[in-house]
Amino acid sequence: MKKWNLNSWTKFPAKHLPVYQDKGELDLVLSKIKKYPPLVFAGESRSLKKALADVAEGKAFLLQGGDCAESFAEFHPDNIRDTFKVLLQMSLVLTASASMPVVKVGRIAGQFSKPRSAPTEKKDGIELPSYLGDNINGMEFTEKARIPDAKRLFRAYSQSASTLNLLRAFSQGGFADLRQVHLWNLGFIKDKTKGKYKEIEDKISDALAFMEACGINSDNNRRLRSVNFYTSHEALLLPFEESMTRVDSTTGEFHDTSAHFVWIGDRTRQPDGAHVEFCRGIKNPIGLKCGPTLKPEELLNLCNILNPDNEPGRLTLISRFGADNVEKYLPKLIKAIKKEGLKVVWSCDPMHGNTIKAATGFKTRTFESVLKEVKNFFAVSQAEGSYAGGLHIEMTGQDVTECTGGAQKISENDLSNRYRTHCDPRLNADQALELAFLISEEIKKNSKISNKIIQAAS
Ligand code: PEP
Ligand code: CO
Repeated sequence: MKKWNLNSWTKFPAKHLPVYQDKGELDLVLSKIKKYPPLVFAGESRSLKKALADVAEGKAFLLQGGDCAESFAEFHPDNIRDTFKVLLQMSLVLTASASMPVVKVGRIAGQFSKPRSAPTEKKDGIELPSYLGDNINGMEFTEKARIPDAKRLFRAYSQSASTLNLLRAFSQGGFADLRQVHLWNLGFIKDKTKGKYKEIEDKISDALAFMEACGINSDNNRRLRSVNFYTSHEALLLPFEESMTRVDSTTGEFHDTSAHFVWIGDRTRQPDGAHVEFCRGIKNPIGLKCGPTLKPEELLNLCNILNPDNEPGRLTLISRFGADNVEKYLPKLIKAIKKEGLKVVWSCDPMHGNTIKAATGFKTRTFESVLKEVKNFFAVSQAEGSYAGGLHIEMTGQDVTECTGGAQKISENDLSNRYRTHCDPRLNADQALELAFLISEEIKKNSKISNKIIQAAS
């Protein structure tokens, strides 16, 4: 394997990187950020890697979710709180269904940059460079806003730092108390359309009552009133990721300290490209988006580059084929991974293969296609004897109208009511939690398979 260093990626072709007009200013900004404190500590990333190793072995489940793109405009403590809250609620449902721990990872505190399908955008006969995320340029449709501005990195760093600070407070300070999360879920199922989910919440009520009777409650048990919550984003904007990558003084290893977990997008996963080169050298747990154009041989090559020691927890493969394409593409990839004995986490992103344009012009996804892709993912994994280890979704705790369908029956005509995303359409709070309830049967079956896999391995 060739030598890696912090900027060896610059010698490889890089897709989806902005071109900054003022290189001097970019360098100045990056040199300042290099001196900023890390956002996360390497030891935390190692803990996440360990937790993901459990997922790879079928002993835990991964829940990863948050905005498609965080924005400066939507930055508000209530938004952070509400996204975190829904992830906890989903996590409780999944834990109860699977009877196993759920590893919680937010697409948050750094998920700004976006790869775009077209480099330019046209409106009323005017063509401008595409919006690339708030840490790069502005969403307003003006020439000025669309010029990449390196100073935006300061604001993104600061927003990430305070988001993370609040998340840490929520995780440890009592907000995540299991009793509280259960009460939120009871509130959700009060609605008459949700009565069918009562069985799962009854199971949780019984478990809490049983523990209470044994003298275990959140007053005397820290595990019941706090959670481990991790952050993640796409490692797209490599100059920034490089500036946040530091040598961990306890091990001498390089860690990207901008998040616990970073992933390589479906458009930047070329084995000889800059993004793969960068990610192979950092020790964080990393993700790889797997879309329809990924061939089994290429996947094996990428696994070899990104995880040469076959370390469990290092690599999460995120399948995103579209609801009707899972059976076509996923089995070959799973077979190849199994044949080589590679230890990976298989997670399902049911969002990015299901984006459509509504007649009203809004980019949207139907709740039904999202649910269908997850169900197909579980079915294929089961048929292949592979453990379906996770769910990766774009969601928000807000009551937005961006994806159609779900219990609220959001129609294409409703989309304009509260369409606030800066990039892709997200499940709203109701839709996200409903998704967790609706896949509980699959999760239950899935955990039975995991028992078989664990038994076969031991
Ligand atoms: C994303 O996760 O926001 C994204 C762009 O996904 P993908 O790389 O799978 O298209
Ligand atoms: Co997206």
